[in-house]
Amino acid sequence: MVLSSGDKANVKSVWSKVQGHLEDYGAETLDRMFTVFPQTKTYFSHFDVHHGSTQIRSHGKKVMLALGDAVNHIDDIATALSALSDKHAHILRVDPVNFKLLSHCLLVVVARHHPTLFTPDVHVSLDKFMGTVSTVLTSKYR
Ligand code: HEM
Repeated sequence: MVLSSGDKANVKSVWSKVQGHLEDYGAETLDRMFTVFPQTKTYFSHFDVHHGSTQIRSHGKKVMLALGDAVNHIDDIATALSALSDKHAHILRVDPVNFKLLSHCLLVVVARHHPTLFTPDVHVSLDKFMGTVSTVLTSKYR
């Protein structure tokens, strides 16, 4: 998946708006994922997955910070997320199908909070960005 210069600009512009809401948007993304795709909860059996729990908020923020890292290193996401990729592949062993589910929920959260920003073009760019991040995080499985 190749991000064009237009995609990169769109993603950076979205992120400048998301920046001030990392914990809220991250928590909402996880909340939606656990509600809409309850099978994803199996990876978080050690979490309190109730709406608004401290663990969901703190984990949501971590996920968003990692995505922010990818935005800041958009030309070399593989290097920026290398350690996280090792973790998801070798320790967490999250089935790659779940990355599409999380990505979908993140897009819904951005669209809901920034409806005018979320044009079809921006939708495509953000979808490609999440696809790139997901490819990186699932690249080391063997
Ligand atoms: C941990 C990011 C997708 C399950 C983490 C951490 C980050 C992160 C930053 C914390 C790592 C650390 O503390 O060293 C991401 C990003 C994703 C993604 C950016 C995709 C865009 C997923 C998916 C699942 C998942 C799809 C499963 C449905 C987990 C679990 C942990 C974790 C179980 C450990 C939580 C804990 O015990 O604290 N992830 N993740 N991740 N992730 Fe992901």
